[in-house]
Amino acid sequence: MTNGYVNRDRRWHPPSLTPDYKTSVARGPRHAPLSFPTTLVEETGPVFGHDMLGERDNDLILNFAKDGGMAIGPRIIVHGQVRDEFGRGVPGALIEVWQANAGGRYRHKKESYLAPLDPNFGGCGRCISDAQGFYEFRTILPGPYPWPNTMNDWRPAHIHFSIFGAGFAQRLITQMYFEGDPLIWYCPIVDTIPTREGIESLVAALDMARTVPMDARAYKFDITLRGRRQTLFENRMEGL
Ligand SMILES: [Fe+2]
Repeated sequence: MTNGYVNRDRRWHPPSLTPDYKTSVARGPRHAPLSFPTTLVEETGPVFGHDMLGERDNDLILNFAKDGGMAIGPRIIVHGQVRDEFGRGVPGALIEVWQANAGGRYRHKKESYLAPLDPNFGGCGRCISDAQGFYEFRTILPGPYPWPNTMNDWRPAHIHFSIFGAGFAQRLITQMYFEGDPLIWYCPIVDTIPTREGIESLVAALDMARTVPMDARAYKFDITLRGRRQTLFENRMEGL
């Protein structure tokens, strides 16, 4: 079986060459992409089991903390549903996240921002979507940080996401932003997204209904992956 997935709509994604985001000039391909049919491997793997995850993988407040400590920062829950472009929940999707700490600093050897490291915050986590595609993790609100693009560029607060869907052909790497952050509209990386609608699809809404009183605020972020074509399976449509 080939071409099991609908073609990506490239107009929705940022073009690879966007000179206002300066490093894209060196990284952006100079030739038009070639199209290949998907293969069985891309359509059927990878498959992740829930037993692969550690007990605290979905809790960034505690998963790097030592001696009963906790990560510093505003406590939040991020949750939502992984769906395909036909609105069907994607179960068993591995969601990996990484982010700066509350001061806007990454735990990385090439990090150069002067904000301090938090000894109890690593900045990485993961979870797997449930049978209906829903996922959830707990973390602290990341801080904005400056980056060397032009004279004075700041990244809005964001969480990086990598999502494996039901097949490699659905892989998506993206960033989530926070409702109400004024820096979203000044960011040259955000500005590579062609439409306002596309940008807003990456902005998680404050979700008071899922807030834990006296504990954590909640943000809702639904994720849309490339859709699988419906195929006839005996006398019914697969996925219905
Ligand atoms: Fe980042």
